[in-house]
Amino acid sequence: MAILIDGKKTAEEIKSEIAARVTEIKEAKGKTPHLAAVLVGDDGASQTYVGAKVKACEQVGFQSTLVRLDATISEEELLREVQRINEDPAIDGLIVQLPLPKHISVEKVTSKIKPEKDVDGFTPANVGRMALNWPTYVSATPYGILELLKRYGIETAGKHCVVIGRSHIVGSPMSILMARNDNPGNCTVTLTHSRTQNLPEIARSADILIVALGKPEFVTGDMVKEGAVVIDVGIHRIADESKKSGFRLIGDVKFDEVAPKAAAITPVPGGVGPMTIASLLYNTLLAAENKIY
Ligand code: GUN
Repeated sequence: MAILIDGKKTAEEIKSEIAARVTEIKEAKGKTPHLAAVLVGDDGASQTYVGAKVKACEQVGFQSTLVRLDATISEEELLREVQRINEDPAIDGLIVQLPLPKHISVEKVTSKIKPEKDVDGFTPANVGRMALNWPTYVSATPYGILELLKRYGIETAGKHCVVIGRSHIVGSPMSILMARNDNPGNCTVTLTHSRTQNLPEIARSADILIVALGKPEFVTGDMVKEGAVVIDVGIHRIADESKKSGFRLIGDVKFDEVAPKAAAITPVPGGVGPMTIASLLYNTLLAAENKIY
């Protein structure tokens, strides 16, 4: 049976480390790291995510501001709100929760965020810096995965890393990060997606398999090599009447089939998910300490 990569426990450790640094910053500089989150509309999942981010801020001693805006807000008004936060010296980090309503351009809004405050690492400036391996805010989910690989001492140099999914938020940056000359990194990377031919065969050749395509239990036991490290980024709610909540969470990987073959695997829930929030907090800490710019 595989080593279970415990993202929940690791995220708690990271949050304790952050909380200790918050105490130091407060004593040394008399300031508290401050994250502002902008939420447009009332998408249920987005509300849950932003709520969890705000709660995590409290947990580590950050200040947070949640700016809730109506789904009908104009693009111009939203851009003004972003600019207002950009210019507020009391705010260190700014995130605009995605997705945005259809009438608003994600490109325009993302470009408006001041790179110094872009703790999601979504602006073109910070994505470029990430690709160059310059100091930057690495976006939260990829950063959380790197941190899990590092803290579990998983050897990556020279390995074949297969990434499934090419999203801007996970798959694409992950493929760049795993290939760059760093640790974790130095992998030979194959980035696969919906148009890839022979996907099962390519997946089977992976030493490290990172699955982020957003399809429940897509990766089955026959798609994984014996001894591979498997990172499952997916999260899906499946109706389950045996649960008090009426649902359970599953990933992009068929855990029961894959875990017996893998050397190490992240569970869902409790794998990559909790690390995403810990990484966002870490980036906000870096912003408050002026460590990147
Ligand atoms: N929507 C889904 N994931 C994210 C994230 O990491 N940041 C933001 N801002 N929106 C998201």
